[in-house]
Amino acid sequence: EVPEIAVIEGDGIGREVVPAAVEVLDAVGDYAFAEAEAGDATLDETGEALPAETYELAASADATLFGAAGESAADVILPLREAVGSFVNVRPARAYPGVDALRPETDLVFLRENTEGVYAGHEDRLTDDVSTLTRVVTETASRRLGEFACEYVGERGKDGFTVAHKANVMRETDGLFRDTVLAEAEAAGVDADTVLMDAFATRVCLDPEQFDVIVCPNLAGDVLSDLAAGLVGGLGLLPSANVGPERGLFEPVHGTAPDIAGEGVANPSATILSAAMLVESLGDDDAGAQIRSAVESVLSDGPRTPDLGGEATTREVTDAVLARL
Ligand code: NAI
Ligand code: MG
Repeated sequence: EVPEIAVIEGDGIGREVVPAAVEVLDAVGDYAFAEAEAGDATLDETGEALPAETYELAASADATLFGAAGESAADVILPLREAVGSFVNVRPARAYPGVDALRPETDLVFLRENTEGVYAGHEDRLTDDVSTLTRVVTETASRRLGEFACEYVGERGKDGFTVAHKANVMRETDGLFRDTVLAEAEAAGVDADTVLMDAFATRVCLDPEQFDVIVCPNLAGDVLSDLAAGLVGGLGLLPSANVGPERGLFEPVHGTAPDIAGEGVANPSATILSAAMLVESLGDDDAGAQIRSAVESVLSDGPRTPDLGGEATTREVTDAVLARL
């Protein structure tokens, strides 16, 4: 049976980079695409940023490819991650030969907790002066992430992982997170060490090679992976996979890039690399490898979009990737 891929472009450059990735998917395999709407424009038209049909499509399709949503991002992406049952966001950040990077030796994978922390917390405005946020960390979610991290390093032939946390201050929440993930590593016989997340931010800039797989709470994973994007040449290069038990949602780390949206010059690499992660989740490792190597080849000597110092359009870069598949 042909796998069904839900396609949600969203807003801004999502409308430019998602179609590019769909062309690439179409070239490497046999997939049935089902399009659905979400984001700011959908909110304006329908009164809902994430219509029920879109949620249901993501919840039932074999995989979902998502671009980005604008100001409604939290109302779109958080429920979509929930629709696919995602508990971890996998964010590889690596520098590619030929791309001008601050730290060309960077090769990291962030495993970001995807269901709780401050993003699932309740925010309140108590008085004119005081606002509050409750942060939720559970042993259940931390254990599931720890289990995933152990499997991930095993499958990838990695030596182990590092847990980034701030348990010296947030003793209960990050303490529970750190201790639970470490206990999973110990039970699985996987090497794991820990780092305070603020110290990590400095150390990864000075010497990214000392890290490999980093397991993070939700907010920390969001911020630290964007920081890593800065080390490798920008947000246009970072894909991500929201992994659930049965299906996943694949999206670039970047947003709608309103400063360049509509100009046809967005870098499609992050979304095309997300599509590679998508086909791998469907068991099509060959197609994934094919996509990755075509993107790497174009990044090394092909046309480049302006974010990478070139003058090429999204169309030209996509054509170059298609030609090298
Ligand atoms: P952004 O990632 O959209 O843009 C940050 C900077 O990176 C901009 O200068 C942009 O031009 C550049 N950039 C990003 N992706 C690029 C690409 N593929 N090619 C070339 N340049 C690229 O982040 P920003 O500006 O903080 O947010 C803009 C909007 O996106 C906001 O409305 C925000 O809510 C939304 N957003 C949505 C996300 C999602 O749907 N998952 C994630 C992050 C932001
Ligand atoms: Mg982010």
